[in-house]
Amino acid sequence: MQIVSTIADLRAALQVWRSRGERIGFVPTMGNLHAGHISLLSAARFRADRIVASVFVNPLQFGPGEDFDSYPRTPDEDASLLQGAQCDLLFLPTVLQMYPQGNAQVTRVLVRGLSETLCGAVRPGHFEGVATVVAKLFGIVQPDVAVFGEKDFQQFTIIRRMTQDLSIPVEVIGAATVRAADGLALSSRNRYLSASERSVAPAVYAALRAAVQRIDTGDEDYAAIEAQGLQALASAGMRPDYFAVRDAHSLEAPVDSARDLVVLAAARLGRARLIDNLRATRR
Ligand code: PAF
Repeated sequence: MQIVSTIADLRAALQVWRSRGERIGFVPTMGNLHAGHISLLSAARFRADRIVASVFVNPLQFGPGEDFDSYPRTPDEDASLLQGAQCDLLFLPTVLQMYPQGNAQVTRVLVRGLSETLCGAVRPGHFEGVATVVAKLFGIVQPDVAVFGEKDFQQFTIIRRMTQDLSIPVEVIGAATVRAADGLALSSRNRYLSASERSVAPAVYAALRAAVQRIDTGDEDYAAIEAQGLQALASAGMRPDYFAVRDAHSLEAPVDSARDLVVLAAARLGRARLIDNLRATRR
């Protein structure tokens, strides 16, 4: 696996593959990799000849007082995991490489509506930072296919929409959430949980499953389903940001014709903020 930290070196390596007609798959990450990320690489490997992963903790998507400084950075472990997962190239840029103009970079990508609801309502500017860095990474790597985890369902929806709206020629693929045996969705931020917090954390998945079961039996009282979910999270000792039943495409409250739904939850537990979701189909 090659490791490069400049855009020029990355483009030189990609040029060799492209000239041979090889398809490029891309997995952008913020590092501290776990089995969830490795599943993204497998999905990419399935659809491309060469796999590029990036590890970049993007300052633009962290708000004031959020965990940018303390976000776990483990580049050596990440490199060996990626090597083991048959990654061909790791792009490991510095903040200066990505944002050479610093605050003088004034261009932002905003996917309106989708970015302001759910996590966007609690983390203003977050998705603008995500969409901007992903657009930039797409411009740098110019992949044929890019893979994102469905655990971050709102992020995945925003990136897919941005790619369509800006006619970026990248196929955006979602990969299923990878869970621990007790149902907790894998996340780099799970390392913020103490042992006792870790033992209650699967309550998020349990609450989502209970909601999906109600929808599966034909229950359409989404306000009651949401109230039950919020109550379940609070009873487990969490501070929920939201528990919401939404249209899986618009992320808005489901209108009568909406069949394809998603139940999403975000809750704070100690220092961690857990997010998760499950799809549901209205009968
Ligand atoms: O999901 C992440 O790790 C990040 O939000 C992403 C997509 C790599 C952009 O920084």
